[in-house]
Amino acid sequence: MQQERLKSSQNRFDLNAIIPKCYPFVKWAGGKTQLLPELDALIPSLFDRYFEPFLGGGAFFFYLVSEKQLRFTAYLSDINDELITAYKVVKNDVEKLVEPLRIHERQYKTNPNEYYYKLRAEIRAFDDVERAARFITLNKTCYNGLYRVNKNGLFNVPIGRYKNPLICDAENLRNVSLALRHSKAHLLVGRYGEILEEAQTDDFIYLDPPYRPTSSTARFTSYTDAGFDDSDQQELYQVFRKLDRKGCKVLLSNSDSPFIQELYAEYRDNITEVNALRAINCKGSKRTGHKELLICNYAG
Ligand SMILES: C[S@@+](CC[C@H](N)C(=O)[O-])C[C@H]1O[C@@H](n2cnc3c(N)ncnc32)[C@H](O)[C@@H]1O
Repeated sequence: MQQERLKSSQNRFDLNAIIPKCYPFVKWAGGKTQLLPELDALIPSLFDRYFEPFLGGGAFFFYLVSEKQLRFTAYLSDINDELITAYKVVKNDVEKLVEPLRIHERQYKTNPNEYYYKLRAEIRAFDDVERAARFITLNKTCYNGLYRVNKNGLFNVPIGRYKNPLICDAENLRNVSLALRHSKAHLLVGRYGEILEEAQTDDFIYLDPPYRPTSSTARFTSYTDAGFDDSDQQELYQVFRKLDRKGCKVLLSNSDSPFIQELYAEYRDNITEVNALRAINCKGSKRTGHKELLICNYAG
């Protein structure tokens, strides 16, 4: 059975094609780069389809495709429309994106503060390439790669402190584009629950929701105007169980707290506690280690 499935996935992909190393093309709050060694230990041995419905920077996806050279069809989605538009442009039109990014980079460097706030305030009708270039430029130069909008849906994160930000990393963008095309990435905007209706037996699903804050001062779940509170965490748990019952391989990361531990008590045998650094707090002293949980419904 496993041999047959391997054969069918070999037919669909050119297994000889090597995807050059690539990384998230956005800096994203809650990005998973530092947890990749721990996530690696939990990659299921065989799967044809991969779902990542809280995509953000997609660190794990790029790791699976370029570091591990795994071949699968990817379903990548997020509630953030600007982010998914940027992914689509990188996938389908990367060469058109490079030049406007170079222009933003040059103009930003002449007067960072003035250029940042001017670009942030622009609300004219952009086409998708311009929208993606604006989004990436703001992301690379804003405070900590945060994405936050005001009541009118306008991006309102202040400028970050960067001496020489790399706005146009053309080589990585091209490699990201290859990785997305090679995995035939379906790029969708939507709530995770809707997207996961499509998941089937043996699909691999990685869930990286906005974390439950570990203290009242650590609230950083406002990635968009819709927050993610305890009732959202409970709803997500129900989706996790449903996927488990369907026979999917589900892996979830979250902050360590009694609330999350109790919610996933049924899976306690497959919960791994890991140490992680969270670089979101502005105070250096608050960037020290804390625990995160990797929860799955299969033995790692
Ligand atoms: C912790 S971040 C994911 C980080 C990602 N794993 C990485 O490596 O960069 C959580 C993501 O979930 C998205 N999100 C928040 N609520 C959502 C929802 N209800 N449905 C889908 N995506 C959601 C946010 O826009 C954000 O990009």
